[in-house]
Amino acid sequence: MARHLITSAIPYINGIKHLGNLVGSQLPADLFARYMRARGNEVLFLCATDEHGTPAELAAAKAGKPVADYCAEMHHVQAEIAKGFNLSFDHFGRSSSPQNHALTQAFAGRLADMGLIREVVEEQVYSNADGRFLPDRYIEGTCPNCGFDSARGDQCDNCTKQLDPTDLIDARSTISGSTDLEVRETKHLYLRQSELKDDIATWIGSKHDWPLLTTSIAKKWLTDGDGLQDRGITRDLDWGIPVKKGADDWPGMEGKVFYVWFDAPIEYIASAQEWVDAGKGTDWERWWRTDKGADDVTYTQFMGKDNVPFHTLSFPATILGSQEPWKLVDYIKSFNYLNYDGGQFSTSRGRGVFMDQALDILPSDYWRWWLLSHAPESSDAEFTWENFQTDVNKDLADVLGNFVSRITKFCRSKFSEAVPEGPDYGPAEDALIADLTTKLAEYETHMAAMEVRKSAADLRAIWVLGNEYLQSVAPWTTFKTDPDQAAMQVRMGLNLCRLYGVLSSPFIPDASAEILAAMGASDATWPDDIASAVTVLQAGHAFTVPEITFRKITDDERTQWAEKFAGTRD
Ligand code: 2FM
Ligand code: ZN
Repeated sequence: MARHLITSAIPYINGIKHLGNLVGSQLPADLFARYMRARGNEVLFLCATDEHGTPAELAAAKAGKPVADYCAEMHHVQAEIAKGFNLSFDHFGRSSSPQNHALTQAFAGRLADMGLIREVVEEQVYSNADGRFLPDRYIEGTCPNCGFDSARGDQCDNCTKQLDPTDLIDARSTISGSTDLEVRETKHLYLRQSELKDDIATWIGSKHDWPLLTTSIAKKWLTDGDGLQDRGITRDLDWGIPVKKGADDWPGMEGKVFYVWFDAPIEYIASAQEWVDAGKGTDWERWWRTDKGADDVTYTQFMGKDNVPFHTLSFPATILGSQEPWKLVDYIKSFNYLNYDGGQFSTSRGRGVFMDQALDILPSDYWRWWLLSHAPESSDAEFTWENFQTDVNKDLADVLGNFVSRITKFCRSKFSEAVPEGPDYGPAEDALIADLTTKLAEYETHMAAMEVRKSAADLRAIWVLGNEYLQSVAPWTTFKTDPDQAAMQVRMGLNLCRLYGVLSSPFIPDASAEILAAMGASDATWPDDIASAVTVLQAGHAFTVPEITFRKITDDERTQWAEKFAGTRD
């Protein structure tokens, strides 16, 4: 039994994620975790909420709540939605946890001991009205290059010129609108990533099997411009992990916190500690410390492409720089973007379907199936209501749902609600078994390689083989002349239902459980070989006809939803 540590990028706390976020990390990570468990591996699947940073503070202020209360509430909301989508995290932690505070401070202290932290005094814009330093993107003004009046402190969106906040004409705070801004000196800690450049380049260079999307982004950041730059890891904010050197104060850094992107990936480790402290596990170190058994662990991370630099460069710099025996990631599966109906999903503009809204209109399996089978792997993908309706109706209702319903109903009407007897399987069944064996091997290969779309196509092909078999042997016709032979064909069909319940469970766990329950299947183990898998349900085994496993999405619904989600979320 192999051991797999799996993490999904941890979603920001402020607001509910849209379907593009879901398919870019949590959902494929869940697919892989479920598959690895189904194959008998030991899996630790972790996620959390990413709770620090200015956006969290501002969202709390907007909601009129203390930021800690806001985060606690939103964590609960996100955890419930994750359950709604059947995301099978072993633990869904919080980057604001005491465990992450201690671990982040310990990493910073260790990096300082290793000579990898330097203190830098820099100038930053301070807003007197807001009583705080302003991050660049919270400063707006007129672009000195093109005159655009809403250029941000880091870049002008109109002419794309990179800017410094002090370049802006009539700069103002986007938080309060105040123009009472001044430049003040402030001290920050920088992680000397440049010292680690060679180590990181060697490490990335050794990852020949990583997806091109991952390595191309990493290599670009390593070699573009001056290459890997030292990185500020502290901020002048109230909300966050206080800057400390391990358990000790850090002179001169009072009142400052670590940068959200410094502590967020450390939460991957802290989440395992939280998992133990919550009584759900007994030993986190055997997953994370190579001196405590984690050498045997295969660690896979899932994320959208915008997160790749932080996971290929910044977090590894923290780990490698510590020179402590932490587990480094073995494989990074990254995703392109899912677009929404001719544009982009947008959290700030509320454009597209958000996770809570999706669950309000359809069960999670419909979304899981569509999103995974259209995962933006080799390029960006697009959600359209037409495509969603067509594919869900075809794949789930016409192919899988119809198969299960047709064979169970036919058996009930012509035989009984028990698997009928009939002779041994013959040549048609042997041919089917051979075809299924080939497809199953492809499905397993693609699932193990996290080729999400190809896996979905294989699974669909496995369902189609059952339909084609039924179509060609036609038990309803056979029954008229040879009921015994028809009984055998039905026996095969019912066994296929059970098999489909097992094989489909990583993609559509609820429907799979429903099918397995209807089949009265106590054995839901992954098949070693198809020939024996299609004999598990023997003559006389009782089953029930499942409720409609999948219903069709109507044209009216499609139109109504397209309209409903075209506008802006309130
Ligand atoms: O892009 C995001 O949603 C970030 N919150 C991901 C953080 S992943 C990691 F570093 F923990
Ligand atoms: Zn401009």
